[in-house]
Amino acid sequence: DQLRNIVERMPKAELHIHIEGSLEPELIFAMAQRNGVSLAYPSVEALRQAYAFTDLQSFLDIYYAGASVLLTEQDFYDMTAAYLARAHADNVRHAEIFFDPQTHTARGVPFETVINGISRACHDSPVSAQLIMCFLRHLSEEEAIATLEDAAPHRDKFIGVGLDSSEVGHPPEKFARVFDRARELGLHLVAHAGEEGPPAYIRNALDILNVERIDHGVRCLEDPLLVERLVREQVPLTVCPLSNIKLRVFDVMGKHNLRDLLDKGLVATVNSDDPAYFGGYVNDNYVAAFEALPLDASHAKQLAKNSFTAAFLEPEQKRAFL
Ligand code: ADE
Ligand code: ZN
Repeated sequence: DQLRNIVERMPKAELHIHIEGSLEPELIFAMAQRNGVSLAYPSVEALRQAYAFTDLQSFLDIYYAGASVLLTEQDFYDMTAAYLARAHADNVRHAEIFFDPQTHTARGVPFETVINGISRACHDSPVSAQLIMCFLRHLSEEEAIATLEDAAPHRDKFIGVGLDSSEVGHPPEKFARVFDRARELGLHLVAHAGEEGPPAYIRNALDILNVERIDHGVRCLEDPLLVERLVREQVPLTVCPLSNIKLRVFDVMGKHNLRDLLDKGLVATVNSDDPAYFGGYVNDNYVAAFEALPLDASHAKQLAKNSFTAAFLEPEQKRAFL
């Protein structure tokens, strides 16, 4: 239809995509076979059927199990190349891609295997692609600091750091020192906040971690003073509609607050989060939200514009994309 057409044709940036969350079941099985890794599921179909989540943690358990097939630099390359080909087909011109090194180093995969494979695929793609290294917040700050030290020789291969995994019980302030150190290295700073966690986590991500963008952030609407601040400071929110439904942040898409975020003047963007697990890539996220909510072509254009405004690009690069 007409709206899907507009969405498909718009040049856009994707700013919230976990590369391990782009690993499709077919690729999980192919890699398991070639690497001799055994899976707890007998088939692609059985694995896909297990993708019925009740909350963030129920997803993370299966997402980390899926990532266990990644062993070689070629595996990381193939996963990233597959995502970028799919993003290119969606008219994504620029992607800022999260990766979770601790998911792999904990299994004995060297840091350099992970970053070299992902980074090489980014170089080989027609999509402008940059990397943001995420710390797993269910692990300690000491482990995050050790990861940042592992990453230091590869400083030129990533542009920022983020914070992901189990949100509730692992507030931003737990990572104050490692974010300070990342800032000293000139890295961009982002954090997941206000997905399942309360508005106070968004505030602390800004005040204590000094982040430049909030990943998700949809729970900000519970705190009018926080909303005022996010609007005043034009702090971007990287919203992921299909993720929010699959992880039950909202019951149904018709209850998603994307339209309210835009009406309040927030710099909301639309992103896929973990497209292989949540039923769609970035264009599917636009279409699912637009079908369920009172949003029209002007909102679609605003969201695409916001995706470049919120990107870690120089002003002239942004202009070239728009
Ligand atoms: N890791 C991958 N996807 C995530 C999400 N939506 N929230 C927190 N951690 C994640
Ligand atoms: Zn995420």
